[in-house]
Amino acid sequence: MRRLVIVSNRVADLRSTTQTGGLAVGLADAVRERGGIWFGWNGEADGTTGDAPQVERFGKVDRIAAPLSAKDLSEYYYGYSNSVLWPLFHYRLDLVNYRQEFFDGYCRVNETFARQLAPFLQPDDLIWVHDYHLVPLASFLRRLGCKQRIGFFLHIPFPPPDLLGASPNHAQLVDALLDYDVVGFQTRTDVGNLKHYLADHHAAVQIGRNRFSIGSRTVVVDRFPIGIDTAGFAAMARQADEAVQIDLMRRKILGRKQIIGVDRLDYSKGLPERMRAFGRLLEQHPELEKAVTFLQIAPPTREEVDAYSDIRQELEALAGAINGRFADFNWTPLRYIHRMVPREKLAPLYRGSQVGFVTPLRDGMNLVAKEYVAAQDPEDPGVLILSKFAGAAEELRQALIVNPYDIDDMARRLYQALTMPLKERQRRHAALLETLLRNDAKAWLGGFLAVLEGKPGSRSTEGLKRPASFLPDSSQQPPA
Ligand code: ADP
Ligand code: F6P
Repeated sequence: MRRLVIVSNRVADLRSTTQTGGLAVGLADAVRERGGIWFGWNGEADGTTGDAPQVERFGKVDRIAAPLSAKDLSEYYYGYSNSVLWPLFHYRLDLVNYRQEFFDGYCRVNETFARQLAPFLQPDDLIWVHDYHLVPLASFLRRLGCKQRIGFFLHIPFPPPDLLGASPNHAQLVDALLDYDVVGFQTRTDVGNLKHYLADHHAAVQIGRNRFSIGSRTVVVDRFPIGIDTAGFAAMARQADEAVQIDLMRRKILGRKQIIGVDRLDYSKGLPERMRAFGRLLEQHPELEKAVTFLQIAPPTREEVDAYSDIRQELEALAGAINGRFADFNWTPLRYIHRMVPREKLAPLYRGSQVGFVTPLRDGMNLVAKEYVAAQDPEDPGVLILSKFAGAAEELRQALIVNPYDIDDMARRLYQALTMPLKERQRRHAALLETLLRNDAKAWLGGFLAVLEGKPGSRSTEGLKRPASFLPDSSQQPPA
């Protein structure tokens, strides 16, 4: 079995299997099983660019964590990654804040990471790079002479050519993607968007359903919808957390149902629209007074970026307005929690909620939707309301699919979910759960790695090296 090298902006805590998310645990298990490396940022910004990374050994795995300088953090993480690529890839051109120094910082950190990682690599390693922070990493590794198979997985959406073309660096980004042997996306839409871009604006030639030829190389571009540890999450949800159980019993006695939302406080998650829909539900159904509550858990994230502090203020005002209008001394219709909740508590909270309200305006996959389904009691399951713009909507067809921009429709669907007969809830949930058990984190990992290894029967092909193309170049033209 070939050694695995995982590269991601944040590195999982390899000491613990309980604190990190199911996906990080799944990746950690894969790297533990094969032996290898997990490389990324150490979470600190008190270093100097290129400071030696810290190496810690856990069994057969080296955890290599590199510090960043304050300038790196500002330009690479808050800047190009989260003020350019994040909004652009989530179709929010209005929130893109492009600056040349952000792009330079992004290239500098990627190049530095490549230099720091290269000495640890062995010729037969399989390298798997994750997410938008690290698009050009393969190009920089190739420049250093790395000939290993390198795969990339994008956890967030990939935009259509017209939107991508709004970035001054679109051609470099796409060239950089094609320096990988396998490029994985969450959905058919994302794969289609890159294919359209390549057809109209690139010299790469499509030579199969999911293969492109560039010079003497072949690149596989395909969809690998990410899964969760479905069985593990379901087991966690069954573990009674005392406080959650007491809350559940209280609501049972009061005959009160709970709608739950769990998201980082990100503008892509559609949180204001979601709160408005809840307000509309209460407005249109006065009989629901004291019969329903909405619990929204939304911890802070990337607050140094203006768009994130703006959304926080908007939500606080909205939550206050809804409670001000509808609350009574013994009923708070909307509870808004602005912090992380341990997964051990989150899982039973999902299970004790009759509606999972997951309505991003755009999302790569949305793992919360999958976690909510996995956590339900199959005998008496809750109902998932899911945005058609979440990647998960391609798989979770038996959810109530909504347009997150249509407040009235969301309010109607909330009512439908709250009043859905048991038989229908069971039927929908059984079908959703079957999908999640089939496409779990293990299946996702195995599927991607089989293609990266070019195993017979996988969807892969052999990739041959070509010269790296990721050179900062201001002479590019936007697509015609
Ligand atoms: P994103 O990657 O954009 O944050 P996802 O829905 O795909 O969105 O994944 C979010 C992950 O973070 C899920 O595993 C979810 O359980 C976890 N999470 C989100 N909000 C919280 C919270 N308040 N407390 C604990 N975990 C959270
Ligand atoms: O899924 C998208 C993503 O950006 C992940 O790459 C990341 O781990 C998560 O959201 C949380 O974001 P951040 O690492 O910026 O806190």
